Amino acid sequence: MQYRRLGRSGLQVSELSLGSWVTYHNQVDTAAARELLAAAKGAGMNFFDNAEAYAKGMSEVVMGDALRALEWPRLSYIVSTKFYWGLDRDAQPVNHRDTLNRKYLMQAIDGSLRRMGLDFIDLVYCHRPDPNTPIEETVWAMSDMIRQGKALYWGTSEWSAADIRAAWDIAERHHLHKPVMEQPQYNLFHRRRVEQEYARLYDDIGLGLTTWSPLAGGLVSGKYRGGVPPDSRGALGGIGAFVKDLTDAAKNAAVAQLEPIAAELGCTLPQLAIAWAARNPRVSTVITGASRRAQLEENLGAVALIARLTPTLVQQIEAVTAPLAG
Ligand SMILES: NC(=O)c1ccc[n+]([C@@H]2O[C@H](COP(=O)([O-])OP(=O)(O)OC[C@H]3O[C@@H](n4cnc5c(N)ncnc54)[C@H](OP(=O)(O)O)[C@@H]3O)[C@@H](O)[C@H]2O)c1
Repeated sequence: MQYRRLGRSGLQVSELSLGSWVTYHNQVDTAAARELLAAAKGAGMNFFDNAEAYAKGMSEVVMGDALRALEWPRLSYIVSTKFYWGLDRDAQPVNHRDTLNRKYLMQAIDGSLRRMGLDFIDLVYCHRPDPNTPIEETVWAMSDMIRQGKALYWGTSEWSAADIRAAWDIAERHHLHKPVMEQPQYNLFHRRRVEQEYARLYDDIGLGLTTWSPLAGGLVSGKYRGGVPPDSRGALGGIGAFVKDLTDAAKNAAVAQLEPIAAELGCTLPQLAIAWAARNPRVSTVITGASRRAQLEENLGAVALIARLTPTLVQQIEAVTAPLAG
C-alpha cells in the first residue's frame, strides 16, 4: 500500500481506503465491522470513511464501537464524517436538515463525536452544497470546528468547482482553515467532475480527492449482468433509485467488454476498476466499499495493479466505457 498526501496538506492517506455507506448497520454489524477494519488496516489502509446520515447515525455508532474494541492507537488511523442531511429529519422541519448553517454544523459535530466515542474526527465534510446558506457562514463554522479541536481538516463533497473555489477564497481572505479535500464520485462511468470540472483546482488551491464508488455501487464487478443477486446492495430496500443504474443494460454490456482486458492482466473486474481510479495522480485515496471480507480482500488486489496500468491499457479500458460515462 502506498500513501499519498491529502492534497496540499501534510496528512498522508492510504491510496485505497474503506467506507461504511449502505454496509454498516444494514449489512455489517459491529463484529463484522471490526473484522473488516482489522483486515483493511492489516493491509495498510489508514482511512475509514463515514457520515452522519449513513444508517441515520448508526454507521457512526458501529464504527465507534468497532474502533473501541480494536484499541488501535489514535495516531494510526484517520476517520471522517460528513454533515448536510441531518438526523431526525421529520422532527426538525427547518434548520437541521439539508443545510450547512452554523447552528446545525456546530451541533452536528458534537453528535458525531458522541456516536463515535472520539475526542476529534480527522476529516469532516460538507456532504452536499447548500444554496440557501451563505458559503461564508459555512466556511466560518467548519473553520471553527477545527479551531475548537473537534476536527482536523475539512472539505466538501459533490460541490461545484466554483463553490469550492469561493470557499477557499473566503478562508484565505479571513485567515480561516481552508477546505483541503473534496469527495466526489469517480468511476469508469462517472468521470467529468474529477477529470474536467476540478482540473484547475488541483494546482491552484492544492485540492485533494477522496473519491467514492469505484465500482459504481457494484455495477463494475459484473455481478448485475444476470439481474440483481439476492445478497447484493441492489436487493436491499431503500436505495431503489440506485437499482436502475446497477441493472442498466448498456452499462452491463460495457462491463462485459472489460472482461478480456481483466483476463489479460490476470485480475478481476473490481480490481481493474479500483486500480483505474487509483492510477489518477489527482486522487489522494479511492474509498472502496465491502459488505464482506472476501470482497475487501479481492479489492485489495488492486494495489499491485495500479503501477501496471500503462497509458495504453488505460486508453483501452476507457474506450469501452467512455461512450456511457458522464
Ligand atoms: N460523499 C458521498 O456522497 C458518498 C456517496 C457514496 C459513497 N461514499 C463513500 O464511498 C464509499 C464507497 O462507496 P461504495 O460503497 O458505493 O463503493 P463501490 O466500490 O462502488 O461499491 C461497493 C459495494 O459493491 C459491492 N462489492 C464490493 N466489492 C465487490 C467485489 N469484489 N465483488 C462484488 N461486489 C463487490 C458491495 O456491495 P454488495 O455486496 O452489497 O453488493 C460493496 O458494498 C462508501 O462506503 C462511502 O464511505 C460517499
